[in-house]
Amino acid sequence: MHCVRLLHLLLEDNMSIVHVEGLRKIFGQGDLAVEALKDVSFSVEPGELMALLGPSGSGKSTLLLCISLIQEPSSGRITMNGRKIYDNGWTGIDVRRFRRENIGFIFQAHNLIPFLNARDNIAIAMEINGVHWKVARKRALELLDYLDLSNRATALPTILSGGEQQRVAIGRALANSPSIIFADEPTASLDTMRGTRVMELLKRIASEQQTAVITVTHDIRMIEGFDSLYHIVDGRLVIDDKINH
Ligand SMILES: Nc1ncnc2c1ncn2[C@@H]1O[C@H](COP(=O)(O)OP(=O)(O)OP(=O)(O)O)[C@@H](O)[C@H]1O
Ligand SMILES: [Mg+2]
Repeated sequence: MHCVRLLHLLLEDNMSIVHVEGLRKIFGQGDLAVEALKDVSFSVEPGELMALLGPSGSGKSTLLLCISLIQEPSSGRITMNGRKIYDNGWTGIDVRRFRRENIGFIFQAHNLIPFLNARDNIAIAMEINGVHWKVARKRALELLDYLDLSNRATALPTILSGGEQQRVAIGRALANSPSIIFADEPTASLDTMRGTRVMELLKRIASEQQTAVITVTHDIRMIEGFDSLYHIVDGRLVIDDKINH
């Protein structure tokens, strides 16, 4: 019986892009301690679009930062692409390198480098990962084409519209062909039309490239067509049965 359970867990880990078990995050100590994540468990499959909703302060950003390996959890387990990354402590793999090679992150504000044009903002993400600058710039052009932004390649972020800036940020997140993209309220600073376009783009990336996408949003209208919806309430993850299958 024990072996069957073990086999099941192993298979589950292998099929998932992300497998999280019993994740906790506590900020501060003693009376001032804030338990931002309480026993959070879930799995995400390749190409899955997962949305995370919840009130301000419920732990959404903390969860994204922990599973994107930017912030260290307090306890629990994280497996990605079949590799144990965190098991009540980092497991010893090169976390920064793993993050660069496997994870894309889109922030609420685009965080583009102001003195680099759209093309080079994307290319630099590849160069940091060891790709030759010439090759990186060529692939950046291909990505801009994919994002329908070819005509903005030489534009600096300041002259791009909010929606264009966010699409360049998506290009940067895609630069190293990640198997998973995390997005923290990527449409928060956009109007409905531009926000919808950004979400459509994320859906297209998930279906065409089998990239899993986990996005935090306040706006339920933005996640039509998503595969799974979770609510986070006071640090606890609650699955929404309506769109999960
Ligand atoms: N670095 C930190 N130090 C101390 N407490 C923190 C830190 N980061 C987050 N918290 C606390 O953890 C809890 C969850 O915060 P988090 O930023 O994850 O919420 P959120 O759901 O993303 O909120 P919002 O919708 O406002 O972005 C909050 O009580 C917050 O004050
Ligand atoms: Mg947040």
